[in-house]
Amino acid sequence: MEIKGIYTADEHRYDLSAQMYQRCGRSGVLLPKVSLGFWHNFGGVDPYERSRAITHFAFDHGITHFDLANNYGPPYGSAEETMGRLIDDDFRPYRDELFIASKAGYDMWPGPYGNWGSRKYLMASLDQSLKRMHLDYVDLFYSHRYDPETPLEETLQTLVDIVKTGKVLYVGISRWPLEALKTADEYLRSRDVPLLIYQGRLNMLDREPIDNGVLDYCHEHGIGFIAFSPLAQGLLTDRYLNGIPSDSRMARERFLKKEALTPQLLDYLRQLKKEADSRNETIAQQALRWVLQQNGVTSVLVGASSTTQLATNLSVI
Ligand SMILES: NC(=O)c1ccc[n+]([C@@H]2O[C@H](COP(=O)([O-])OP(=O)(O)OC[C@H]3O[C@@H](n4cnc5c(N)ncnc54)[C@H](OP(=O)(O)O)[C@@H]3O)[C@@H](O)[C@H]2O)c1
Repeated sequence: MEIKGIYTADEHRYDLSAQMYQRCGRSGVLLPKVSLGFWHNFGGVDPYERSRAITHFAFDHGITHFDLANNYGPPYGSAEETMGRLIDDDFRPYRDELFIASKAGYDMWPGPYGNWGSRKYLMASLDQSLKRMHLDYVDLFYSHRYDPETPLEETLQTLVDIVKTGKVLYVGISRWPLEALKTADEYLRSRDVPLLIYQGRLNMLDREPIDNGVLDYCHEHGIGFIAFSPLAQGLLTDRYLNGIPSDSRMARERFLKKEALTPQLLDYLRQLKKEADSRNETIAQQALRWVLQQNGVTSVLVGASSTTQLATNLSVI
């Protein structure tokens, strides 16, 4: 599918504003309740015009927040390159309406300086991300994972310093344990760079941030919480009820393994489908609504391989 001509965003994109946006913790930032992630479907291996159509659909329906990381692709870096192309082709005039996030923390380049949480890695990675995305700044930069070896103060001071460079407006952390989250919150607050948001996996099959107290901590301390993989990478949909479609994430077997589809899970999904049918809903809508109803959740960060999927996911608003 080729998109011709210059993109003009839908003039009705903010019609649902009152329902769509939610304050992120105790900050000045409003985020859409449904945000779009670029982990899959936006890499160099994916058709650009499809990624572009999904992004247009998102923005045309009020999704202002796009979530990336240095290593999203494949290959690594290519989701950010797709974003750079989208900025050049379509979104430069809308830059101030977008809230774009990137991250560093997982392996990105070879050698001792392309991974984890050192100042050396985070600073260099951010510069690379900005180049790939053709941006002067990102709205949000995350430490992508907790690094048990690097002193927390080194990672946290780097987050403070990058905000002061003007290349980043807000900072977040992803998948840090509760004790480290508390340290980060106190350290950053005392240096006037409050932690905007915590990114963690939360869905009906994985309630870890509820069980380990992270969600409550964020809620009580004015930190936003964005739930990644709210559909458990597609398990919490009707995608796998009748086998494994050849174009699905599970068929690619990298991040979603076939072993995940146990008879118990299938029973659970069939039960969910019955409940969803009785309400004229899909499993996906039910699963997203469940996450959004948890106290302290600012946004569900969905992935989508088509505009149809995204439309279903958006209909929970
Ligand atoms: N911080 C971290 O460590 C971390 C880790 C993981 C993800 N994330 C972020 O979270 C984002 C979302 O993660 P995710 O992609 O795992 O989220 P997800 O929403 O749980 O799964 C998305 C996948 O589910 C399927 N799907 C989505 N909507 C559907 C629908 N309505 N009906 C049927 N199938 C549907 C699609 O799979 P098919 O491709 O099979 O169609 C889609 O690619 C990522 O892009 C990334 O930005 C962050």
